Amino acid sequence: MEKIRIAVLGMGYVGLAGGMAYAKHGFKTICTTTTPSKAKNLNKGIPPFYEPELEELVKEMVEKGMLSGSTNNIETIKESDVTFICVGTPSLPDGSADLSAVKDTAKDIGTVLKNKDDYHIVVTKSTIVPGTTENLVLPILEKYSNKKVGRDFGLCMNPEFLRQGQAVHDSLNPDRIVIGEYDKKSGDVLERIYSGYDCPKMRCEIRAAELIKYAANSLLATKITFANEFSRISEKFNIDVYKVMKGVGLDFRINPMFLNAGCGFGGSCFPKDVNAIVALSKKIGAETPLLDAVLYTNELQPMHFVDIIKDTVGDLRGKTVAFLGLSFKPDTDDTRATRALPIIKRLYQEGAHVKAYDPKAYYKFKPLTDLPIEYMDTWEDALKNADFAVVQSDWQVIKDIKPEDFKTLLRNPIVIDGRRSYDPEELIKNGITYRAIGWKNLND
Ligand code: UDX
Repeated sequence: MEKIRIAVLGMGYVGLAGGMAYAKHGFKTICTTTTPSKAKNLNKGIPPFYEPELEELVKEMVEKGMLSGSTNNIETIKESDVTFICVGTPSLPDGSADLSAVKDTAKDIGTVLKNKDDYHIVVTKSTIVPGTTENLVLPILEKYSNKKVGRDFGLCMNPEFLRQGQAVHDSLNPDRIVIGEYDKKSGDVLERIYSGYDCPKMRCEIRAAELIKYAANSLLATKITFANEFSRISEKFNIDVYKVMKGVGLDFRINPMFLNAGCGFGGSCFPKDVNAIVALSKKIGAETPLLDAVLYTNELQPMHFVDIIKDTVGDLRGKTVAFLGLSFKPDTDDTRATRALPIIKRLYQEGAHVKAYDPKAYYKFKPLTDLPIEYMDTWEDALKNADFAVVQSDWQVIKDIKPEDFKTLLRNPIVIDGRRSYDPEELIKNGITYRAIGWKNLND
């Protein structure tokens, strides 16, 4: 392998942000998708989703001829030395992952390897439970290629830890790279690809790499849930949970990250991955009481938020709510498992009407519900004549709303904050009734 050529099967966050980073590090990369318009747009420098800075970098890499899109897995694999499987693994109703796309891509790779003489490395990067690479992907590769792993081709598992909203930053500057390797030869090739990445690299067996991803996401989801549980305890004592968690996070053994209490974790990873590892563990006879509680608490938290809203404004019948932020977190248009949905559903059950504002997420949120939500073009329109405001996702543009704006546009100057988007003292000083998760909600 002179200069390694890379095929990335899948054009989601992991595939495209990773592919852009390989291209930026000097590896010619082709990303594939089953959707022709996505491939066509990528070749014009347009990514299929919003992510800060992604469009500029994708454009640059496409113009330099380092990155391109295709719908043809077979040709793309033929033209590469290393193939990354980055396809989606959505949740099935029982919480386990749907692996059909992983299987399909493994078949395509096996079919190409059959007639390919060069040594090729296959890397699974999709989030998959331990054993999937060796017990599912590997047999398909061997069957369709009629070749033997270790002798004729290499195999690795390389989990991805990027965060949406920071996908570009995280894929260019990961805090660590985990290389699960079938054998040393396979791992060495992957380490060559990552030689320009300045971070610790850890090599281990394939199934450990698979489990590291689930363990990391489960621990982060647990940290958030811990802060959420303490938000309820703090509220009863009239203490600000953010102060409590600040004091906790100053312990270097704990660190301050992911201790922000809010209306629960959403997104494409935490809910799906914790559910998947819990479902699999139960199936194989491993108890998961801690993670069961994490999932349970995460469903309670949005309901707890609505209880705070009701406690503040009373009966919701006939009230109009200015609902700020629909995406599962800021800087992404993604609405998978967004806490906005259970909160808005309950607001309607209680008889309220919602005027929503989000800078990017309408087209992904609208298909999730046919409730008669009014989708407003600006936050000003959402606030105008609403009875009070609720914050679910703390986009910077939402955080920048001034107390004066709440006062002049809302019917009543009431802000109920699910993400601690504002300095409470500042709002209160300016005559706003402020309530929030884990804030001093009791009347002294
Ligand atoms: C997560 C992991 O962080 C990443 O390493 C993994 O690769 C994919 O899953 P992501 O889902 O993009 O990334 O977002 P993240 O920033 O982790 O937030 C997930 C959810 O937790 C969001 O709904 C966010 O609002 C919530 N959250 C996060 C909190 O409620 N409190 C916090 O302190 C941090």
